[in-house]
Amino acid sequence: MSRLAAGVVLVTACEPSLDADDPHAPVGEDVGMTATAFLSVSLDPPLVLVSLREGSRMDDLLAEQPLWGVSVLAESQRHIAGRFAMKGRISDRLLFEDIPYTRGAASGAPMIGGALATLECRTEQTVTAGDHTLVIGRVLSADLPSADGGPLTYFKGKYRQLG
Ligand SMILES: Cc1cc2nc3c(=O)[nH]c(=O)nc-3n(C[C@H](O)[C@H](O)[C@H](O)COP(=O)(O)O)c2cc1C
Repeated sequence: MSRLAAGVVLVTACEPSLDADDPHAPVGEDVGMTATAFLSVSLDPPLVLVSLREGSRMDDLLAEQPLWGVSVLAESQRHIAGRFAMKGRISDRLLFEDIPYTRGAASGAPMIGGALATLECRTEQTVTAGDHTLVIGRVLSADLPSADGGPLTYFKGKYRQLG
């Protein structure tokens, strides 16, 4: 599979508020995860899929947070992919600190500035598949933050640029 060239995305979500009954309760921390196992599934309705390692922080978070975001990373955003792929992280708070992002209106998830495209999704279905969870999401909104720049890709264990 390392020979299958892939685009790189950042999946993001915001931890739900600790008190679901109180609309003013502070929401939790933002979490991000670098992923290549992301694809479009259906046009009507618009569905996408991301495959999450069981027990990863994002897998645990999406089990309780149905709203999430996807930022399709540009070739200049390799550093973002690198930091959100580090294993054993306890908190992502500092990782977002120097990255420009907006908060998705539909999901509350961080949408990365300068990404080639961003999507907001709501989980429709999850499928346990071996040691991963396939999370199928309905696309709630789509934006194109950056008009130029090529995609960040991953091939044979390295980040690459097209061309
Ligand atoms: C290029 C690249 C692609 C990745 N794609 C995925 C993926 O599609 N699904 C996944 O679960 N983890 C993927 N990972 C690994 C996660 O980014 C990494 O395990 C996670 O951020 C670390 O947090 P964790 O300790 O909770 O697993 C990928 C890592 C890299 C470097």
